[in-house]
Amino acid sequence: MKTLGADRVSVAFAGLRALSGVTLSVASGRIVGLIGPNGAGKTTLVNVLTGFQAPTEGAVTLDGVPLPKLGPHEVRRRGIARTFQGGRLFRDLPVIDNLEVTGVGLGQSRAAAIAEARAMLDWIGIAPLAERIAGTLPYTDERRVAIGRALMGRPDFVLLDEPAAGMSAPEAAELSALIRRIAGEMGCGVLLIEHNVGLVLQLCDHIVVLDSGSVIEQGPPGVIRASDKVRHAYMGTAAETDLPVPEIEG
Ligand SMILES: Nc1ncnc2c1ncn2[C@@H]1O[C@H](COP(=O)(O)OP(=O)(O)OP(=O)(O)O)[C@@H](O)[C@H]1O
Ligand SMILES: [Mg+2]
Repeated sequence: MKTLGADRVSVAFAGLRALSGVTLSVASGRIVGLIGPNGAGKTTLVNVLTGFQAPTEGAVTLDGVPLPKLGPHEVRRRGIARTFQGGRLFRDLPVIDNLEVTGVGLGQSRAAAIAEARAMLDWIGIAPLAERIAGTLPYTDERRVAIGRALMGRPDFVLLDEPAAGMSAPEAAELSALIRRIAGEMGCGVLLIEHNVGLVLQLCDHIVVLDSGSVIEQGPPGVIRASDKVRHAYMGTAAETDLPVPEIEG
């Protein structure tokens, strides 16, 4: 079993404290939710955990050991993968190439990367999209391709930045099932950032709530549901916590 952690991570941008002493951990096979209002610091934390942003204070830990300062590519090679809030596929390339490029970047031969890419698309259930140009895909398929790309090379951890944004309830339910399989079948530790709080409450064993860069609450779904602090943080966007919860198999 592996554990990815943030240990008292702070990030300051000129004049703005985006994160203040944030500590959390994700273990193999578990799904941890990271929620909070816009600007709370969720993406900044993902950036820190994946080497896109150096922390001002604190450290990223792997199995409790602080990682040295690493760039995104080195972090990825250590088995920590992510998706981006905006997707960031190579829009002019076929879907299969989008995955292959990542495999090759991880040191695989072209043939091995293509083979894994095909197996991955099949595992996700989007094999028929292999030859489609990524930029022409509907939004929800694009998201699944981005997840497939993140899973190339079988990372130990995958950090998903708002994968369900803009999805309908049935689409979100399908995505939930996929995320469960990533944790359950692949044994990945998943950090799920999501504005769809209903989805997070249903999927995650542990949820961390950020507001203005600080952890204001954490615990199992019951604790988050009952928390006045969480309700208060979402005031003004309160409706989000009452979103209909999608039906999820298994
Ligand atoms: N590179 C940067 N330079 C300066 N400020 C930044 C930078 N990146 C993020 N910020 C600021 O840090 C804060 C946290 O931003 P972040 O993107 O992490 O929030 P978030 O929780 O992901 O929000 P959202 O739900 O809208 O995606 C915001 O105030 C944002 O404007
Ligand atoms: Mg964000």
